[in-house]
Amino acid sequence: MKIAVLTSGGDSPGMNASIRAAARVAGAKGARLVGVEHGYDGLIDGRFRELTMELSGNRIAPLPEIDVLGSAGGTILGSVRSMRFMKPEGRAAAAKNLADFAGLIVIGGNGSLTGAHALATEHGVKVIGLPASIDNDIGCSSTCIGVDTALNTIVEACDRISDTARAHRRAFVVEVMGRHCGYLAMASAVAVGADAVMFREQGRGEDALVAAAADVIRKGFAAERGKRRVLIIKAEGVEVPTERLVKRAQEAIAADLPGIDVRATVLGHLVRGGNPSYQDRMVGSRLAYAAVDAILEGKSDEMCAWQPPMPGGVATMDPSVFRFPLEKVIEETKALIDGSSPVTRRRVKMMEANEGTLAL
Ligand code: F6P
Repeated sequence: MKIAVLTSGGDSPGMNASIRAAARVAGAKGARLVGVEHGYDGLIDGRFRELTMELSGNRIAPLPEIDVLGSAGGTILGSVRSMRFMKPEGRAAAAKNLADFAGLIVIGGNGSLTGAHALATEHGVKVIGLPASIDNDIGCSSTCIGVDTALNTIVEACDRISDTARAHRRAFVVEVMGRHCGYLAMASAVAVGADAVMFREQGRGEDALVAAAADVIRKGFAAERGKRRVLIIKAEGVEVPTERLVKRAQEAIAADLPGIDVRATVLGHLVRGGNPSYQDRMVGSRLAYAAVDAILEGKSDEMCAWQPPMPGGVATMDPSVFRFPLEKVIEETKALIDGSSPVTRRRVKMMEANEGTLAL
């Protein structure tokens, strides 16, 4: 029996740890694990690669290079956002290549899980998804593979920026990844003791953002407060470009705070790479365990979720992992992004209620 695995969409630290765990668990349960290179494109082209090997006595074990894989960032299988898979012909070709597999594990974000759902419903392929996205924008799972490492990277970067900011008494606006979801900005702002956070879900226009930035800088550097650093974390998804926001904030404070510099740092892809943290290896491995189990039990069209923030889902042998139908995951992901999910509403409410606290 053999199981296929692919990584798709934006890579995230911990994907490799998931692949390693899937290879071990599959081997332990007597199944082979075969990797698909370059996401759904590779599935269409039949680009398979063995990840396990047969030992004497019909035993199966991960290839030696897979066994050491858990500590590496990125994804050993490569990843793409496949345009060909969006078309019915692409999906039909992909399904055909899976004919002699027990099932497919898809490790990826929103688009990847939507593709997995299409494969399952249109072609009856047995597919189990794992949420992997540094943005933490996947429904039904409290965290995704990669989020913790990305946050640790942001925290380290902000600590470094804070050192130099304090030396010169400067304000910084630090932009972090998160196209549709401001989770990385919100969570890191709390962790680094930022003075303010800006994210798309607040729905603020450019003038309001400039005014908020100027206000927090004025208050922080007021003589009676005497701060040496003002740090504002801004999510990538906020439509105003960071450089423009900084320029306008600088102009706005110029008269009151001559000599105070406002600087911009865009962390960009720096946040997506790096060796996975303990948590991402642990979460990625345990989700992969449940995914292999699910395939071997003949389950399909579901995602394994980590400590779901909502009731429901099917319990697994792991008390932190529950399986949700992919349809429900996709629906909840949409609501997370458009702001109608109670999870997003709660996040926004908590940040807004604590705006004054951050600025203290
Ligand atoms: O994986 C999610 C993400 O990192 C977003 O935060 C970001 O907007 C996007 O991917 C960047 O994608 P790309 O690497 O294709 O430019």
